[in-house]
Formats: sequence, structure tokens, C-alpha cells
Amino acid sequence: MNGHVISTVGRSTNIKWHECPIGKLERQSLLGQKGCIVWITGLSGSGKSTLACALSRELYCRGRLSYVLDGDNLRHGLNSDLGFKQEDRAENIRRIGEVAKLFADAGVICIASLISPYRRDRDACRASLSEGTFIEVFMDMPLELCEARDVKGLYKLARVGNIKGFTGIDDPYEAPLNCEIVIQQKDGVCPSPSAMAEQVLSYMESKGYLRA
Ligand code: ADX
Repeated sequence: MNGHVISTVGRSTNIKWHECPIGKLERQSLLGQKGCIVWITGLSGSGKSTLACALSRELYCRGRLSYVLDGDNLRHGLNSDLGFKQEDRAENIRRIGEVAKLFADAGVICIASLISPYRRDRDACRASLSEGTFIEVFMDMPLELCEARDVKGLYKLARVGNIKGFTGIDDPYEAPLNCEIVIQQKDGVCPSPSAMAEQVLSYMESKGYLRA
């Protein structure tokens, strides 16, 4: 990228991209996998973190290195300055996307799990990556189900107006139009965590992500 060029990017003036002799390909062959981002999007309570953890565990059992970037967890540190208004969520997604990109470049299977409600922000992340690096997984669970689960009790608070701008209640969730994987109920039953992980794994296996 920009071999010998001095450039200006955003507010960074007079900067130059440095290339190392050991690159993504070398790291991938060390790990025997392809660095990529598994981006799990969906409503609060739709099972994103459950899938992220199950997938990470299954990959580990198969000797593959993954790392989970969880929206809630990153808001405890890197993103603790962000709230839930539209520009903050956009920045949350942008930052997690940038971090995930570094993990993917490191050769790691990076599992990003965050509501990421706006299509434009997810698509911008996808567009900043090379073809095939962004695997979008949509947790296609009905709001009624997520709300009935209400694992954190937040839907209840949102319904009585104690949380404003809650995704699915008074803030929009825009479902992906063209994602790689959709996780859905079958005959009214949610797939188990290991079945969800298996669905993602078989996609990754068939597309060659689990070999260098
Ligand atoms: S995102 O919209 O910016 O992608 P993210 O996944 O990081 O959201 O964080 C969502 C978590 O923040 C939820 O699981 C919930 O625990 C908490 N939360 C607090 N306020 C809101 C809100 N207004 N909308 C959605 N989630 C909220």
C-alpha cells in the first residue's frame, strides 16, 4: 500500500506506510488458516455472544486460533467513551472493524460480536477489506423472542422508557441484505450453540478458511 509515498490520511500528515518482510501469508501458513473476520450482527439477546463463544471453542478444539471482539466487552475499555446515539454506534463499529482488520492481518480468525444495527456501517467495514475477508453472520431471531429472553432485563427498561434509543424498540435494526450466513429458528426452535457454531464452521471449511 502506497510503497514510497508520503501521504495525508485524515488528520495525520506526512505519514508513510511501512511494509514488513514477514506478511499475512507467512503468518497464515504458520497458523494453518486464513485470517478473516466473522462479523456477527443482530438484536440484543439474539445469541451473538453465545455463538461467538461456541465458535471460538470449536475452532480451538480443531487447533485453530480465533479471538472474540465483543461489543459489550470493548465498551468496557477501548470504546468506553462511546454511547448509543447513531454517530457513537457508527464509531463503535468503525473501531471494532479496524481492530478486527488487524487481527485478520495477523492471520487470526477474528469473531466480532456486536449489534451493529446500521447496514451502512457494516458495509463500510466490508468494503475496507479484501474480497472474502468479511464473513457476515445474521442472527435472524424475532424481536419477540429476544424480548422474551431479556437476559439482561434491558428490554423491560426500554419498554417503560428508562432506556432511550434501544435497538429494536425505539432505535432501528437494519437486517443484512446479502450476508454469508443466516442463523434462524427451525420449526420454532432455536439451534443449539454447537449447531450454530457448526453452521459457521462448515461454511468456513467449504470456503477454505481452515487451511493456509
Ligand atoms: S452497537 O449498536 O454499538 O453495535 P454494542 O453491541 O456495542 O452495540 O452494545 C450493545 C450492548 O449495550 C447491549 O447488549 C446492551 O447490553 C447495551 N446497551 C445499552 N444501551 C443500549 C441501547 N440503547 N441499545 C442497544 N444496546 C444497549
